[in-house]
Amino acid sequence: MTKVFSKIGLSAVLVSALFAVTLSAVSEAPKKLIDADSIGLRKTTVDGEDSITPEKTNYSKNPAGSGKKIKRAYQDAPPMIPHDTEGMLPITINDNQCISCHMPDAAKEMGMGATPVPVSHLTNFRPYHKLEGEGDNEEFKKITDDMNNDTKIEKKDTLVGARFNCSACHAPQSNGQLVDNDFKAKYLSKDGAKKSSWNGKKFTEGLDTVNQK
Ligand code: HEC
Ligand code: HEC
Repeated sequence: MTKVFSKIGLSAVLVSALFAVTLSAVSEAPKKLIDADSIGLRKTTVDGEDSITPEKTNYSKNPAGSGKKIKRAYQDAPPMIPHDTEGMLPITINDNQCISCHMPDAAKEMGMGATPVPVSHLTNFRPYHKLEGEGDNEEFKKITDDMNNDTKIEKKDTLVGARFNCSACHAPQSNGQLVDNDFKAKYLSKDGAKKSSWNGKKFTEGLDTVNQK
């Protein structure tokens, strides 16, 4: 019995407390509401779609060779494409023009200042498995041990398939100002805003568990 009474007592206190809060809220001036024009990114009312034209994207019209390189977003971020990509996208199996300027040999030969693809793009990180033996003795051999989290790293002098579709990671940048961005990159290397640093000894450190065992 005592328990029930105490519960009622408690809720009576709560109710009167709530009532007091409600009363004081009513007596205060109403807070300023956010108006419909400032809720969305478009700075126009969210109530109508008919008269809305989104901000225009302004991709660089400078042809390759006259583009102004854009600072990397952070250390070893994929650089944005600073030049016009008209007629180059989408990349298909038979048409990848990016390669003709950005493969290391081509970049050097053309001498127009195209950054050569870095070593990561010429390296296979995917485990390579194979079939061994013939006929009934054919056996599937795994080169890595999944349980051990193995990786096999293979440097090549050709572009690896995983990097063929450049535009999956590198995009042209538009000059629009949709929202302010106050992110500030802290580059770990001195020229981190302009160059990839994922190379040399650091490149495969601790990664190639098969060859470094
Ligand atoms: C005709 C040669 C050419 C073609 C084709 C080309 N590029 Fe470029 N690219 C350049 C040059 C030259 C630069 C240096 C900036 C400039 O002059 O525009 C550059 C710069 C870049 C950069 C910035 C590199 C940095 O260091 O900041 C990226 C990323 C890039 N290109 C990606 C691509 C992709 C992806 C494609 C295919 C859709 C492509 N490029 C096609 C010549 C080319
Ligand atoms: C899976 C994502 C991915 C794909 C696909 C890809 N890249 Fe990259 N790219 C990166 C990243 C991340 C970096 C920076 C880190 C590094 O060095 O790997 C980079 C760096 C670069 C750089 C700067 C090199 C330097 O030394 O500063 C160039 C140029 C470049 N990529 C061109 C290309 C081209 C051309 C293709 C297509 C043939 C391509 N990338 C495909 C992710 C990618």
